Amino acid sequence: GALAACSSGSGATPALVSPSGPAVAAAENKRKGTGRTRQVPLTAAAATLDLGGGVTARSWAFSGRTPGEEIRLSAGDTLSAELSNRLPDKTPTSIHWHGIALRNDMDGVPPVTQRAVRAGADYTYRFVTDAPGTYFFHPHVGVQLDRGLYAPLIVEDPDEPLSYDDEWVVVLDDWVDGVTGTPDEVLAELRHGMGGMDMDGMGDMSTKFMLMGAESELLGGDAGDVKYPYHLVNGRVSADPAVYRGKPGRRVRLRVVNAGGDTAYRVALGGHKLTITHTDGFPVRHEQVDALLIGMGERYDVLVTLDDGVFPLVALAEGKDATGMALVRTGSGGAPGTTVRPAELNGRILTASQLRAADEVRLPSRKVDRVHRVELTGGMGKYNWAINGEAFDMTDPAAHPLTVEEGQRVRLDFVNTTEMWHPMHLHGHTYQLGGHGPRKDTSIVLPKKKLSVVFDADNPGQWMLHCHNAYHAEAGMMTLVAYR
Ligand code: C2O
Ligand code: CU
Repeated sequence: GALAACSSGSGATPALVSPSGPAVAAAENKRKGTGRTRQVPLTAAAATLDLGGGVTARSWAFSGRTPGEEIRLSAGDTLSAELSNRLPDKTPTSIHWHGIALRNDMDGVPPVTQRAVRAGADYTYRFVTDAPGTYFFHPHVGVQLDRGLYAPLIVEDPDEPLSYDDEWVVVLDDWVDGVTGTPDEVLAELRHGMGGMDMDGMGDMSTKFMLMGAESELLGGDAGDVKYPYHLVNGRVSADPAVYRGKPGRRVRLRVVNAGGDTAYRVALGGHKLTITHTDGFPVRHEQVDALLIGMGERYDVLVTLDDGVFPLVALAEGKDATGMALVRTGSGGAPGTTVRPAELNGRILTASQLRAADEVRLPSRKVDRVHRVELTGGMGKYNWAINGEAFDMTDPAAHPLTVEEGQRVRLDFVNTTEMWHPMHLHGHTYQLGGHGPRKDTSIVLPKKKLSVVFDADNPGQWMLHCHNAYHAEAGMMTLVAYR
């Protein structure tokens, strides 16, 4: 969580790009529902958060906590989530159900799939959850997800094939917003500027400027010594970490979610190997590793067999030389220091393209009907992050869509022309990397590298495709995959 929301969604109301009604409903009806409905109230509001270790932060959260309370249901259940927007300063919001293949009109992307939910208003999201897996949710307005508005969404498999004794959800976040006693004058300035500025007419330029300032502060670039002062594991700082209690010999499923706005993490549990079983909710052929590399918006499920003692579960912020930590306690012993770096962090790490999809979720091979080249363009200097050289414009979201037709096999060829890496996220679908790679919805595209993914266009509507760095996305590294 970091900064104030910027302008998009709060300016003039652009026309709604209407999702294609009957086709959207037809796709929903194909999902096998259980007939059960889970009702969940969700209030987005300012909150004073206790991050542990005497650190409190005034920020925005769902129902007063970060991460917000987990939603857990069974595949095929209907989720009925009632969002109450109680954010301050007339801030509009929405909820996006990250990774879920749901009906397009419930995807939570103003102004594409709905109008933003105005301050003081309520909105009910209602959809059938399709595939089991580890997901999360967050607003899709400005960089609101970087303020603490996120929570895990777990869709259980009624016929779970994995066997394990316990399950822990591990949510990672880079945090700076509203922290007391940190050198945040510059950020306060930025925030103040955004709140006080008349954005009409100059919205784009000023937003880009703010984002550039914010991201370089957070990266500790030229201007700044701010950086993210905290990396949180389940909403807690390393000095007073979250504690997972277990028993030696038990097998635990960890569901790891990176909800950060600007940070990829390398994650390891000291003294343990991790067996990767799922990525982005979908099963893979099991692989044993020492550590995970997880970009913003990605999820990994791993199995671990617990040893006897007290172990650090460490998330090392890539390129930032800082860590977040939780403790795993199965026996006696003192807690490791808050800056411990388990050796596993430098052990065997697989990137997603080295994984293989489990047979039951591998896309059947067939010819590709449509290829889109998705060039990731821009740079930190001008802060002109874009796709195919076109910065996404929220007031004209359908300006440069990538078109597909229902029933097509589509290939996206990501070409990263920039010096930074970008976690690219597709809404409403789970693509496959390479021919046999894992099924995912968010994948890191490394600097100067290419990555090809295929998906079946089986969920009609208008779907975002964007970098999950909140600042890059807001600056324009987004586009629309549009069914024709
Ligand atoms: Cu998690 Cu379009 O985002
Ligand atoms: Cu990016």
